[in-house]
Amino acid sequence: MIVEIEKLVHNGYGIGRFQNKVYFVPFTLPKEKVKIKDIVNKKDYSMAKLEAVLEPSPNRVEPLCPYFGRCGGCHFQHIDYPEQLNQKSNILKETLKKIGNIEIENLNGIIYDEPYYYRNRVKFKVHNKELGFVGVDEDFIKIESCPICSKAINDLIPFLKEFAKHFNPSWISVFYSDTQKEYMIKFASYDYIDKEKVKKFKEHLTPKNVVGITLVKDDKREDKVVFSIGVPFTFIELLKIKYRISVNSFFQVNIRVAQKLLQALLDKENNFDKVLDDYGGVGLFGLHLAKRSNSVDIADINKSSINDAEYSAKINNITNASFYAQNSYIFLKKSLSKHANLLVLDPPRSGLSKEELELVLLGKPDYIWYISCEPSSLARDLKLLKQKYRIKEIYMADMFPQTYHIETAVKLELL
Ligand SMILES: C[S@@+](CC[C@H](N)C(=O)[O-])C[C@H]1O[C@@H](n2cnc3c(N)ncnc32)[C@H](O)[C@@H]1O
Repeated sequence: MIVEIEKLVHNGYGIGRFQNKVYFVPFTLPKEKVKIKDIVNKKDYSMAKLEAVLEPSPNRVEPLCPYFGRCGGCHFQHIDYPEQLNQKSNILKETLKKIGNIEIENLNGIIYDEPYYYRNRVKFKVHNKELGFVGVDEDFIKIESCPICSKAINDLIPFLKEFAKHFNPSWISVFYSDTQKEYMIKFASYDYIDKEKVKKFKEHLTPKNVVGITLVKDDKREDKVVFSIGVPFTFIELLKIKYRISVNSFFQVNIRVAQKLLQALLDKENNFDKVLDDYGGVGLFGLHLAKRSNSVDIADINKSSINDAEYSAKINNITNASFYAQNSYIFLKKSLSKHANLLVLDPPRSGLSKEELELVLLGKPDYIWYISCEPSSLARDLKLLKQKYRIKEIYMADMFPQTYHIETAVKLELL
């Protein structure tokens, strides 16, 4: 059947209608006429497969990657970059309105950088000793390169292919530090892996700037280390603070955009007395805020990240920060019992729990920075926070060009 795409919606699908039914079509653009076939047919809607673009949009471009459309990693390579930003900000505004009843006319800024070669961390799937990614149909796509990974990670692919051939793991993840010009590797395997063999491989067959190779237990417990060869951490400098990043710690995948976002948030701020950095990771926001505040409490459930944050405070001579390896609810309950000037919240995609939101509304910090990687949970949470806060500024940061993912930072002020 043939449909005209009305608009792009959450998760990057275009929507078209045929005989009163909505069709979600990937890899399309508004106003395009496309030929589709439905693949998952539900009562009110269908997930469709794009068969042909009959009337292309002027914003349609040739994808850079030969695997685009089959690989599950990218969704927007067919859209020119200014239009990707335009579509994402429309999706963001629409989600805020639909779920949060929040009307935003203009964002305060759209933060972006290079649209390709930006990822400094990536997880490859390994299948039958070959390196690749999970495909759109949950199949395996063998790859030779990836244009959203940094050039440095692409340079390492020939080695990673050798590693995959040698050890046949289930996946390999790579982290590259631009500051140190070095890599950390983590991998998992269902089979027994001989530590001595990995040691020999590291000594004789591995580039010298791969500083550490770590085996973890399995897919579900990525943080359960079986053994590490070499050094299981590296350092990254961001706006003059040097962060230690251990192999099990969280760090943003797009350093250039993370840096610009940090700059945008910090730029206009004066000094704070008391700051809380919840979901703080290795202290990306908290350590910078410590330089402008009397005291900062940084919390994260991940012990490895919090240990790194504490270590980084020491090497950067930051003495007014405290560190808590705690889940957010416990941290908020205790820390919001005293007045705070600024609360930073940067949760995973699920956003905050109702109980956490209640604690925030009760604790009433003067300002909140809510950093979100999922517009729908952000909209849901802002709907509740609106009872006592107004939106002062809102930024979209394009941390993940070529994909539908949207990062948002909202500054809230107590009414
Ligand atoms: C999007 S990351 C943000 C980290 C940090 N703010 C940054 O920008 O690098 C989310 C963080 O939330 C942490 N996290 C996940 N669930 C949590 C929970 N229930 N309580 C506290 N932290 C949690 C993760 O370990 C991760 O570090």
